[in-house]
Amino acid sequence: MANRESFGSGFGILVAMAGSAVGLGNLWRFPYLVGTNGGAAFIIIYLAFVLLLALPIMYSEFIVGRRSQANVFGAFKVLAPGTKWCNIGFIYVLGSLAIISFYCVVGGWTINYFWKAITFKFAVADTAALGNMFSQTVTANYEPLGFMLIFLVATALIVMAGVKDGIERYTKLMMPVLFLIVVLVAVRAVTLPGAGAGLEFLFKPDFSKVTANTFLDALGQAFFSLSIGCGTVMTYSSYVSKKENVVGLSVETAMADTIFAIIAGLAIMPAVFSFGISPSEGPGLVFVTLPYIFAQIPMGSFLAILFFFMLFIAAITSSISMLEVIVAYLNEEFKMGRKLAIILSFAVVVVLGTMCSLSQGVMADFKIFGNNIFDFFDKLSANILLPVGGFLAVIFVGWKMKRADVEDELTSGGVHPFTRAFRNYVYFSIKYLAPIVVAIILIRGLI
Ligand code: TRP
Repeated sequence: MANRESFGSGFGILVAMAGSAVGLGNLWRFPYLVGTNGGAAFIIIYLAFVLLLALPIMYSEFIVGRRSQANVFGAFKVLAPGTKWCNIGFIYVLGSLAIISFYCVVGGWTINYFWKAITFKFAVADTAALGNMFSQTVTANYEPLGFMLIFLVATALIVMAGVKDGIERYTKLMMPVLFLIVVLVAVRAVTLPGAGAGLEFLFKPDFSKVTANTFLDALGQAFFSLSIGCGTVMTYSSYVSKKENVVGLSVETAMADTIFAIIAGLAIMPAVFSFGISPSEGPGLVFVTLPYIFAQIPMGSFLAILFFFMLFIAAITSSISMLEVIVAYLNEEFKMGRKLAIILSFAVVVVLGTMCSLSQGVMADFKIFGNNIFDFFDKLSANILLPVGGFLAVIFVGWKMKRADVEDELTSGGVHPFTRAFRNYVYFSIKYLAPIVVAIILIRGLI
């Protein structure tokens, strides 16, 4: 495709990839999973999964995307013409759609809470009142829809501006801000009196809390947090030139994401312990526990503004990456202009997002397999679509592509050669290690 877009610089690619990876997954999901799964023990399992399973999948998505220079459906048509492999693309488009549909709802909450922080609504130092505030915020009919729409319009506008002038430009602008804010909040948190218990919880493993479910949670979180398994990395890497280092960029993205998750843990857990709150608060941790803490610490109302602004930035640099998967697919496979593709996918997401939002309130009794729509999309994507999508990516690269082609991509045509031993390990992990372990955890989790 002659007039395809591409990223402007290597740094721009890294920031866009890190922007996709760092999101609500790090700041909202990771801390409460750590909280409910026994602290450091969960972190250790999570890190092992990132290294051993997530990285090979990330390389694989990268290889397919960059080699084909096409969207998630077209990529397989380029690399395996005349076969059925391209149907993997449907899973990726579906996965991206499922995720963005509930993600935009939470994205709306972040804007809502940012607004509450600016107007000093957290002055009540009472967890019950703040709990009520949260449940009223999410169960209302119209207000969350309004904020969700703002979030989606912002997402669509950035994607509309294009890969280089939209996605790359805005993530480059926002990610450093995000990093500064999270560090600032973390420094404030670890210097609170009594923060030590929180640090101990984060860094001293208690393996007695580890159950079979911990492994599935850790796997789902690794996929979700690194944005793998539904074609995000594949789509972004299709805009990456042949000379960039696939392995280097993947490892750097994974490192950036992990560092953000740990710092987010540092920003949240010490404060939680310092105020004697249970770390296993669950999804409300960020929206209930933190405002309670902000209401009581020096500079708290200022930190609250920063924190919810940060949450919004983290969310939007991720949502643009999900939208781009769908837009690139419609744009290239149906020869529809980018603008039309964006409007169409925006409309579909608004409908699905509205259902997710209402499922917190008036539509709570509408259940799919025992879950409301929001939880259904969340579980369907993290526990099924992402692992299956990741599994198919490594299977395709390990078993369908020629090893010489895979190595050509891994080394970027010999520009980044690495050692023989390292290449052997990477190939082994793509061909055997990742698919086998992911399949085992997935099957165990499903039954
Ligand atoms: N990684 C993002 C987060 O941690 C969410 C995300 C963006 C995502 N793109 C994705 C998750 C693709 C899975 C697949 O919040």
